[in-house]
Amino acid sequence: MSSLKTENLSVQFGAVKPVDDVSVEIAAGRLTSIIGPNGAGKTSFFNLLTGLYQPTRGKVFFDGQDVTRMPVHQKVRAGLTRTFQILNVFDTLTVEENIRAAVQRRHGRSAYLFCAPDRHGPVEDELSAVIERVRLQEKRKVRACDLSHGHRRHLEIGLSLATRPKTLLLDEPMSGLGMYESSVMGEFVRELAQELTVVLVEHHMSVVLSISDTILVLSQGRLLASGTPAEIQASPLVQAAYLGTGRYDLPQERAAHA
Ligand SMILES: Nc1ncnc2c1ncn2[C@@H]1O[C@H](COP(=O)(O)OP(=O)(O)OP(=O)(O)O)[C@@H](O)[C@H]1O
Ligand SMILES: [Mg+2]
Repeated sequence: MSSLKTENLSVQFGAVKPVDDVSVEIAAGRLTSIIGPNGAGKTSFFNLLTGLYQPTRGKVFFDGQDVTRMPVHQKVRAGLTRTFQILNVFDTLTVEENIRAAVQRRHGRSAYLFCAPDRHGPVEDELSAVIERVRLQEKRKVRACDLSHGHRRHLEIGLSLATRPKTLLLDEPMSGLGMYESSVMGEFVRELAQELTVVLVEHHMSVVLSISDTILVLSQGRLLASGTPAEIQASPLVQAAYLGTGRYDLPQERAAHA
């Protein structure tokens, strides 16, 4: 069964076509990665899926329902949530306060953010579960601005998990992270995919190749290829799309088979 499906999805701004006639199915309960050179249309594709951009043509289906024109907040309520390429947390709030605000918003209690919390209520239980889920128990009282970049990324994912998504879209969660932090994030994303449908946009090819079930390749707004990591590595089309960009690290021993 597919979680997300697009039919001829396109968006155009003047002469620019960030996404051009993309038809794909994203399987439920799997980890699907979207790769492609800078400017390929990956973030724009997420913007179309989540409702930030309105398509000029084509359709988006979520859990079999046509959600093409559904506003962002309704999609979130239906279980489709995303993180942003640029970090999106409240710097001056602690980990706990950031996640509490997100949990309370889902409970329809945003006005109570600065009131004394009920330590035994459902919000507090859920808050603790999310903090544990994103492995930030020891950073609970630390302000977001004092976290390492890696921990801030975990916090951002926590804010998304607080919306109880069925499908989570992650836009470059490894951006700005070193090799070690990226592989930790990769393991974490793989773990999330045991419980949720995960769609990952990422440039760290070695991590993408090792954790993904399926990879979609975008180039100049169009779907260039889709397949298993092995199929994508072996694709001459994909190799050609990456040549000269200097940003990709297709492992040499694997690239040799392409
Ligand atoms: N609202 C917009 N108006 C005009 N052009 C846009 C708009 N949104 C995206 N684009 C253009 O569409 C193209 C694709 O951009 P997009 O951000 O989707 O690429 P990307 O694959 O996410 O790139 P990166 O890997 O650098 O994040 C770019 O040329 C961008 O400038
Ligand atoms: Mg992008």
